[in-house]
Amino acid sequence: MSFDLVLFGGTGDLAWRKLMPALFQAFRHGKLPQGGRILAAAREDFSAATYRSWLHERFLDVEGAKQPGDEEFARFAGLVHYLRVDLSQPGDYVQIRQWLDAPRDDGPADTVVLYLATSPHLFPQICEQLGKVALNGPNVRVVLEKPLGHDLESAQEINRAVRSVFSETQAFRIDHYLGKSAVQNLMALRFGNALFEPLWRRESIANIQITLAEQLGVGTRGDFYDRTGALRDMIQNHALQLLTMIAMEPPSRNDADAIRDEKLKVLHALKPFTEDSVLHDVIRGQYRGGTVDGRPVPGYRDETKVPPHSHTETFVALRTEVQNWRWSGVPFYLRTGKRLAAPEAQIVVNFRPAPHRIFPGVNVPNKLVIKLQPEDGLELHLLAAKGSGPSEALSPVCLDLDFDKAFAENRVGGYERLLLEAIAGRLNLFVRSDEQEQAWHWIEPVLRAWERDDDVSGGPRPYVAGTWGPAAASALVARDGFAWPEEQ
Ligand code: BG6
Repeated sequence: MSFDLVLFGGTGDLAWRKLMPALFQAFRHGKLPQGGRILAAAREDFSAATYRSWLHERFLDVEGAKQPGDEEFARFAGLVHYLRVDLSQPGDYVQIRQWLDAPRDDGPADTVVLYLATSPHLFPQICEQLGKVALNGPNVRVVLEKPLGHDLESAQEINRAVRSVFSETQAFRIDHYLGKSAVQNLMALRFGNALFEPLWRRESIANIQITLAEQLGVGTRGDFYDRTGALRDMIQNHALQLLTMIAMEPPSRNDADAIRDEKLKVLHALKPFTEDSVLHDVIRGQYRGGTVDGRPVPGYRDETKVPPHSHTETFVALRTEVQNWRWSGVPFYLRTGKRLAAPEAQIVVNFRPAPHRIFPGVNVPNKLVIKLQPEDGLELHLLAAKGSGPSEALSPVCLDLDFDKAFAENRVGGYERLLLEAIAGRLNLFVRSDEQEQAWHWIEPVLRAWERDDDVSGGPRPYVAGTWGPAAASALVARDGFAWPEEQ
């Protein structure tokens, strides 16, 4: 299947850090379909040759990419072309169209993927112009990078603009967490195995905790981050997507709409926030200077391009419930933050304790840990009798599955997977507009309450960089008689 992929924003950070390396990896792994061409479209005055060497130089900074001079890169670079465009100029879209229409050796491409890796405020304008040059035919797919909106209204505006030119089945909204292997394995664990399904409900599960913790600060993205904050940056999308996959009913088929219908039902079932519950169930924090990995790091307000009195949250912990028969009363805790103690992304399913004890020793309930980062894997925590005597005390043990070891040959990066899926036209790992809007709808009361509360409470609670966030986040879980993994 031949394809043309146009990368709008071809010289941007995302393009050289993530997308081009992912395409290169796919090429190296022999997974990129034959007969592909990649057109980087951007404002810089490059020729194809200068773009290729510019890219090659940058690949040095990208983990896992290859060194300059590598023959494989040269073959990959043969697929890469460059077009200088000003996206506000209608004539430049005609040029893109002409480039795509120019005869190629193996006839017209079967698929055209238009990847919008530009600032989202340009999406409506880009879509309109693409429509005007009829770049919206049935073989065209448009890939949209986050952040898709700043709130419900702006998300709806983007979706309206996209829908006025493309059908829903042509729109591939990226949430790069859906490309992670661990997320694939979560689906496989739940719907490819019969073992856990009978336990996957309120009768057996005490609570579920999703942690997306980063050690990094905001780096050079201070201005973007300060307008965004952790709730919009990580909870509205990544954390909620993980929650839907944990909580959804088994889909009847492995197809995009069957899966997305079930995820949407979870979003609709989330307990709505009220002004009061935002105060009790949502904790926001902001890091102050501290030590991360033995290195002193500045506080958020001292980061480049961050206003000195910023009220933007760099940490959120919240408690919610999925109000349906399966999950009624089971707390779901979501937590994310920058400059935390460890770079750990994981979902912990805490089971209920054994109802009756006959052994001495600890009585720790079982838990299943789905690890997304730094390594992806599965841990099942059990109790076992390590010694030999009949009255031996039980000790915790862990069944530990490391996917990197188990599937060393076939590891695929997140963006690599998503790009290949978009080229193949499979929507399973992309977010539908109604899911995305419902996620905004759910967090909207929190955004509004914080806006009102800023002057009263003075904004987010401070926490020291290199810790697990404000103490109130521990209290949120302790209130229900539970604890975060690092406190257990
Ligand atoms: C992005 C956020 O969506 O996800 C970043 O904008 C964050 O702020 C990143 O650092 C985390 O992704 P990952 O894959 O490194 O966990």
